[in-house]
Amino acid sequence: MIVLGIESSCDETGVALYDTGRGLLGHAVHTQVTMHEAYGGVVPELASRDHIRRLIPLLERVLVEAGVGKADIDGIAYTAGPGLAGALLVGASFAAALAQALDIPALPVHHLEGHLLSPLLAVDAPSFPFVALLVSGGHTQLMRVAGVGAYELLGESVDDAAGEAFDKTAKLLGLGYPGGPQLAELAGSGGPSALRLPRPMLRSGDFQFSFSGLKTAVLTQVHGRNLAAQERANLAWEFQEAVTEVLAVKSVMAVRHCNLDRLVVAGGVGANRRLRQRLDADAAAAGIRVHYPEVALCTDNGAMIAYCGAQRLLAGQHGSADGAFGVRPRWPLQESGLLL
Ligand code: KG4
Ligand code: ZN
Repeated sequence: MIVLGIESSCDETGVALYDTGRGLLGHAVHTQVTMHEAYGGVVPELASRDHIRRLIPLLERVLVEAGVGKADIDGIAYTAGPGLAGALLVGASFAAALAQALDIPALPVHHLEGHLLSPLLAVDAPSFPFVALLVSGGHTQLMRVAGVGAYELLGESVDDAAGEAFDKTAKLLGLGYPGGPQLAELAGSGGPSALRLPRPMLRSGDFQFSFSGLKTAVLTQVHGRNLAAQERANLAWEFQEAVTEVLAVKSVMAVRHCNLDRLVVAGGVGANRRLRQRLDADAAAAGIRVHYPEVALCTDNGAMIAYCGAQRLLAGQHGSADGAFGVRPRWPLQESGLLL
């Protein structure tokens, strides 16, 4: 069974074909980063219009790469939320129209579930159950994953998500958008100094996170001062240390709490090299194996959506082939029916 996945929730257009027998047949992502860069962040209307421009060429490219025709597609999965309303509508209406034309089902997918299952696309995929650390621009959550569609929320950020904290702190340090990768790069030329930032909620004894205070602590350091280049780099380094330490310590705690030995990392911040180093070291010391999606599948992509849709179809979900579709720009996992 071949499923087409469409992702358009924010500033990446992702299209992919996943075959339940052969795995990922092809995927392509177009990122709008350079378009939004000039504005210092995502401009929703520009994002929607660009998704419209990109979808058909990306689909044609993926069909060629996969060596299949449109008639070979058995179902279409699209990101229905959470995300930018206009951007989601582009992907959803495209998926619904194509599904109706091909007389196949269109299935709405929760973006976070896509991220959560993305490590299962790896060759050496983890088996259930495992603990997942979901770290994206909008979410920081620890979950116990018993199977597809069976998730238990162990804890989450009470304020800013880890990616959001990276992005906001990058802005404070005068870096461009998207801030996460740029801050990580700056941190690479920094190191330990007299400067210390807090490790928020490190010893809270639960699986909650809080990152907004960290951003304020950075603001206090930069406010009214003209930091030398090395000081800025050291501040970026310390910020990255603080975030990655809290994430790593709590993730290992969560795996132990669940009596498991596997941790899966998903979401854009999962691309951060220091986070991977830190998690690998802490997990190895605790006898825990860590699984990551390929770096290209950490950030938004169509492959994770196609995979999710394929699992839904395998589980007997029907979807709709009548052109009906819906999007949920705000769609808490708690209201998704996916949590145990
Ligand atoms: O999962 P994602 O692509 O989109 C959302 O669903 O949010 O995650 C994007 C987030 C952004 O906040 C971005 O700055 C962050 O992931 N990010 C990183 C890195 N690469 C992406 N943060 C830290 N280090 C990175 N290397
Ligand atoms: Zn995402």
